[in-house]
Amino acid sequence: MSKFLNWIDERLPIVDAYKKHLSQYPMPKNFNFLYVFGALGVLVLLNQLITGIWLTMNYIPSAEQAFASVEFIMRDVEYGWLIRYMHSTGASAFFVVIYLHMFKAIIYGSYKNPRELLWLFGMFIFVILMAEAFMGYLLPWGQMSYWGAQVIISLFGAIPYVGDDLTLWIRGDYVVSGATLNRFFALHVIALPLLLVMLVFLHILALHKVGSNNPDGIDTKIKKNHNDLSDVNDNENYTFHSEYTNKYNIRYCVPFHPYGTVKDFFAVAIFLLFFCYIIFFNPEMGGYFLEAPNFEAANPLKTPEHIAPVWYFTPFYAILRAVPDKLLGVMSMGLAIVFLFFLPWLDRCKVRSFRYRSHLHLINIVQFIVCFVILGVLGALPATPTYTLLAQICSVGYFMFFILLFIYSKYEKTRSLPKRL
Ligand code: HEM
Repeated sequence: MSKFLNWIDERLPIVDAYKKHLSQYPMPKNFNFLYVFGALGVLVLLNQLITGIWLTMNYIPSAEQAFASVEFIMRDVEYGWLIRYMHSTGASAFFVVIYLHMFKAIIYGSYKNPRELLWLFGMFIFVILMAEAFMGYLLPWGQMSYWGAQVIISLFGAIPYVGDDLTLWIRGDYVVSGATLNRFFALHVIALPLLLVMLVFLHILALHKVGSNNPDGIDTKIKKNHNDLSDVNDNENYTFHSEYTNKYNIRYCVPFHPYGTVKDFFAVAIFLLFFCYIIFFNPEMGGYFLEAPNFEAANPLKTPEHIAPVWYFTPFYAILRAVPDKLLGVMSMGLAIVFLFFLPWLDRCKVRSFRYRSHLHLINIVQFIVCFVILGVLGALPATPTYTLLAQICSVGYFMFFILLFIYSKYEKTRSLPKRL
């Protein structure tokens, strides 16, 4: 076996890559449970790809047959119900995992120098993931699929001059129709997943170039010409003989295997517990994962009483509805995402983790998260005057996070960082 591996390794650096990026990847000692969501993201991505391929084997992307083909998968294809529920639950699980993953990056300042590009790749993943979920939602061709797509695509009509032409170009018709379904299918099953996989690859490559951040937000790489390891006890050296890791400070890091893998596998077990509970006992999740109107075939002549996007879009949808003017609403929704892209440059504080930053920063993060969650709840409810007012207040809170951060982060009073972990 080792001869065979050597033979391969001389031609393709597979063992090398395994050691460098997995088994001997230097993992900061103080990783906590929030650091499992990257690995869970990879798991959910694989789940979506595999179940998606199997669904495609029986799904028919035409306005006449799409709805019936999904019913066929649910009732007649062997274990079709399981594969479909794994895919529909997987979509929501993806966003749960990604939101928590982003939350971790925000509180520990993982987007800061030198990880700006890593953050940008993450943000591109987030945007593509939203497009992927939106297009996938049209495919079952239910009432909410149809009318949700109708509402969201028509938003592009608010753009001055090109709006009408743009919506026509996206739909491929004057209303959402079979032509729209066909192109969304093509994008959903091949173009966007390919892009996602490539972006995840670049995301992890960028991470491994600069190394992981950690809950204390301190540097774990030894700087050039820095050999101040005088206070390190030789016994601490035992985990680190590797040619891949010796440039890391042994006071901070341990190899990813077994120290990280054991945590990630534990997280996978807990995750699967929740995932299986939903799939087997509660796949619709009270209408949040699969909405009731979507069990009715799309009817272009009958608008559902209340059109609401799936829960993971509701914070942004609430921002859109909070603004009375259509164009300004669309712009606000877009800006809510654009601001996130610029986070590494809006935050000018040198210290990364909230643990060593000011109380003001902590309060700002808390109000941001609270506003985001309230917006998420409001986006799923019908708009009443009171809810609209609340959504307006929370939208201001959302944007104030970035504006205040830009102002105070330059002059922030921070605490001294620990010398070792
Ligand atoms: C398909 C989606 C994604 C996958 C599979 C993924 C995967 C990973 C993995 C495996 C890690 C290393 C482990 C960890 O730190 O948790 C990581 C780190 C990171 N990811 Fe992602 N990620 C995804 C999406 C995102 C998004 C949407 C963002 C934010 C915009 C993001 C930002 C980051 C950052 C800043 C780190 C470094 C964290 C640190 O070192 O503290 N990722 N990602």
